[in-house]
Amino acid sequence: MEAGVRHTGKDADPGTADARFVDRERLWQRHMEMAKIGAIPGDGINRQALTREDITARKLLIGWAEALGFSIGMDAIGNLFIRRQGRNPDAPPVLTGSHMDSQPSGGRFDGIYGVLAGLEVLEAFDQAGVATERPVEVVAWTNEEGGRFSPGAMGSMVFTESRRLKDCLGIADARGVLFADALAETLAATPGAEKRPFNFPVAAYIEAHIEQGPKLESEGLPIGVVTGIQGSRWFEVEVVGESAHAGTTPLKFRRDALQEALAIIAALNDLMDDPTDTVRFTVGRMEVVPNSPNSVAERVSFTIDFRHPEGSVLSDLGNEIDPTCRRSVSRCEVEVREVFHRQPCVFDPQVLGTIESAANKLGLRAERMPSGAFHDALFMNDVCPAGMIFVPCEKGVSHNPAEYASPDDLAAGARVLALALLDLANR
Ligand code: HGY
Ligand code: MN
Ligand code: MN
Repeated sequence: MEAGVRHTGKDADPGTADARFVDRERLWQRHMEMAKIGAIPGDGINRQALTREDITARKLLIGWAEALGFSIGMDAIGNLFIRRQGRNPDAPPVLTGSHMDSQPSGGRFDGIYGVLAGLEVLEAFDQAGVATERPVEVVAWTNEEGGRFSPGAMGSMVFTESRRLKDCLGIADARGVLFADALAETLAATPGAEKRPFNFPVAAYIEAHIEQGPKLESEGLPIGVVTGIQGSRWFEVEVVGESAHAGTTPLKFRRDALQEALAIIAALNDLMDDPTDTVRFTVGRMEVVPNSPNSVAERVSFTIDFRHPEGSVLSDLGNEIDPTCRRSVSRCEVEVREVFHRQPCVFDPQVLGTIESAANKLGLRAERMPSGAFHDALFMNDVCPAGMIFVPCEKGVSHNPAEYASPDDLAAGARVLALALLDLANR
């Protein structure tokens, strides 16, 4: 057994031979290869959705998959499917995967780990000579992060028909590039893929992902069995005032959009104040126009990311955001738009049991835990039994170039994924 992989002490079950073909070095090298695409200082990644870097990464992944003899599919929003055939080609496949796009200042493991762990499992099955009843497919979802085109999880939302593709096409990034145009360029860059419909029948879905929190590492656990995902609501707020000369305009004549945006955010901080530190309230992006030191701000737009594990709090407290913004302005106008609202989800108990028994067979300690981050599994959970496997990341750091996960932990998660997929693909 490899050093550093934390065990329960029991010998692994002989039925774990197939997982043994998961190759730690190969999985690590593919991460490092992918990390060269969109690399930024500090071992980080800027590989945002539908950029040239995203297209380059998609081509690299397709190249690896085709070299292994797997077939490639793609749907109209660019979700990429890698298929390993089953004995029954007509059976709904078991799906695994995650996203390849990153935050503007992201890490080398968020998302891409779930895609590369899936590819590693398909290759391990080939090497082990494993035949499954159902096909097994790896999916790379389009635009999970939502940093460039908001909101996130667009690919899995459109696939599961919880949002229409046409409602995404007109969304523009900060430079005014339309999602429709960036998507057209991405689809054109990978012409050979077989066209896939949205929401085709899927037997089950498991997503492997780094935890993006400190629990597993701090408790010395190699595997997290994710019980569900907390709810999220995203808003865009626009404050409209009037540009004026910083030197000549008395305060009493000003309609200062930046001062009033700050007053709104202060009021929202009061609203969201939570001594239990369960509420997650973030203003992550702010744009000021004309953004000049000696002009009073005419317009300020900022984002709100609000999350909570309880659906009722997410609804009740979230519904106070709009009126709080309106109450907090004095001379400016304010517009509040909700762009994403997803209630918490609970994953399928059978899938959780399958993941736990896979970890057990491998002698790996696993613990059930919720996810603070959202994932594409949140939407796949609408259409099929779904679950997630977490592996530790250093100090829980993520959405940051310093994000790090060890080769041992990545391989351990992929081995659990292999046995869980094997189990589900033969049901
Ligand atoms: O924002 C999220 O929770 C995810 O990491 N995109
Ligand atoms: Mn992610
Ligand atoms: Mn992320």
